[in-house]
Amino acid sequence: MGVQISPSILSADFAELAVECERVAGYADWLHVDVMDNHFVPNLTLGLPVVAALLRRVSTPIDCHLMIDDPDRWAPQYAEAGVGSVTFHVEAAANPKALARSLRAAGSRAGAALKPATDVDSYADLLRELDMLLIMTVEPGFGGQGFLDSMLPKVRRARALVGDLQLWIQVDGGIGEGTIEACAEAGADVFVAGSAVYGAADPAQACRRMRAQAEQATAKSWWCGT
Ligand code: DX5
Ligand code: ZN
Repeated sequence: MGVQISPSILSADFAELAVECERVAGYADWLHVDVMDNHFVPNLTLGLPVVAALLRRVSTPIDCHLMIDDPDRWAPQYAEAGVGSVTFHVEAAANPKALARSLRAAGSRAGAALKPATDVDSYADLLRELDMLLIMTVEPGFGGQGFLDSMLPKVRRARALVGDLQLWIQVDGGIGEGTIEACAEAGADVFVAGSAVYGAADPAQACRRMRAQAEQATAKSWWCGT
């Protein structure tokens, strides 16, 4: 599939969401929508009604990152609404394997996210149930935080565990022109960026530049180099 860019609308103007989404149309592979419930993380954003409204207005596929308790109960509804990729946190899920299967059965790609302290090896058996693994590179909850360099070995380990599986590795948190190359080199192929895109004067050009950087770094990487 190659490099994919997923701008996070958490850093966009919430009063102008559909307009903000269109600013990256043609430059973004996905729109990353952060759902926070003020329980799993200490912040509150938006939920299914807003996501459903965006699905009606926006042409770019939506990548929902659910930072919520009890995703076993709530996540399938996002898939049924037409979200292209639904990611839940393994720390919150009672039965990650069954949840991943129900997301796929509802027609979505299934993603699982790991907080910085969550070990990837513990979830090696889950990988075959997934379409994407999200390695958080900040503590989930807020945009604009500094990238955790200590997550790079985890990305590398995740890429090794993925092997020949058709599984994307997403990184989220502190991704920008200064950090995207290291993530691509380590093994990530889907890049979420909030402040680096929506804080830029031209969000579309920020996507274009980051994609070019990631593609160059991937071509030289240990896992994809030729
Ligand atoms: C944080 C969210 C991120 C956030 C990233 O919990 O999951 O998607 O928008 O923002 P930046 O790119 O500014 O770190
Ligand atoms: Zn996110």
